[in-house]
Amino acid sequence: MAEFRHETERLVLRDWRDADWAEFWEGTNTSAVMRWLGGVCDAAKRLSVQERLLGYARDHGHTFWAVERKEDGAILGFCGLKLCNQEGGPIGTTEVGWRLRETAWGQGYAKEAATAALDLAFERFGTDEVVALTVNGNVPSWGLMQRLGMRRREDLDFADASWDVDDPVLIVYSIDRETWEKQRG
Ligand SMILES: CC(C)(COP(=O)(O)OP(=O)(O)OC[C@H]1O[C@@H](n2cnc3c(N)ncnc32)[C@H](O)[C@@H]1OP(=O)(O)O)[C@@H](O)C(=O)NCCC(=O)NCCS
Repeated sequence: MAEFRHETERLVLRDWRDADWAEFWEGTNTSAVMRWLGGVCDAAKRLSVQERLLGYARDHGHTFWAVERKEDGAILGFCGLKLCNQEGGPIGTTEVGWRLRETAWGQGYAKEAATAALDLAFERFGTDEVVALTVNGNVPSWGLMQRLGMRRREDLDFADASWDVDDPVLIVYSIDRETWEKQRG
């Protein structure tokens, strides 16, 4: 199958290549990046994450894609789409997600990549609604959800201790096609 590849102004969202993983983990498997995601991953966890991301691409044609910076080819992290599979969550609904290395924060890269992912969700993958999940403590992540125009959905929140043991609730935001299209003009 042809490699998935989608360009934005400064970034490329694309399928993972074997050579990406070392750079991805070097940049993102840090206590700062993994602060709200259960902490740094050991080798077994890293492998299972890789297998899951490759599996989503194979099974659904989308995944949390590698985010490559055009300027220098650096792998900044991931951003993209999966089908929610978190027990207790809105299973089967399209979910947008992101994780960038710390040196890439604060430059609008996450918003640029997430905007592309939402465009793709509604335009290419034909979904009618996209959700995003995080924990209350992860202000940068739910801040991005708000900047994307997503709406807080307390009715969809659910118990899960894998990200924040002290506050074991995953909070949910969502956006539907009509709202997104209106916003995009
Ligand atoms: C969540 C995460 C992706 C957000 O990244 P981010 O860089 O803060 O988000 P954005 O891309 O929207 O960038 C916003 C910031 O860039 C600044 N910025 C600079 N240039 C910009 C531009 N051209 N366009 C938009 N914003 C720009 C904004 O002013 C804002 O700065 P501020 O944070 O100081 O207010 C990042 O914190 C992360 O990877 N965290 C670790 C992993 C994680 O927790 N993932 C989520 C799990 S649920």
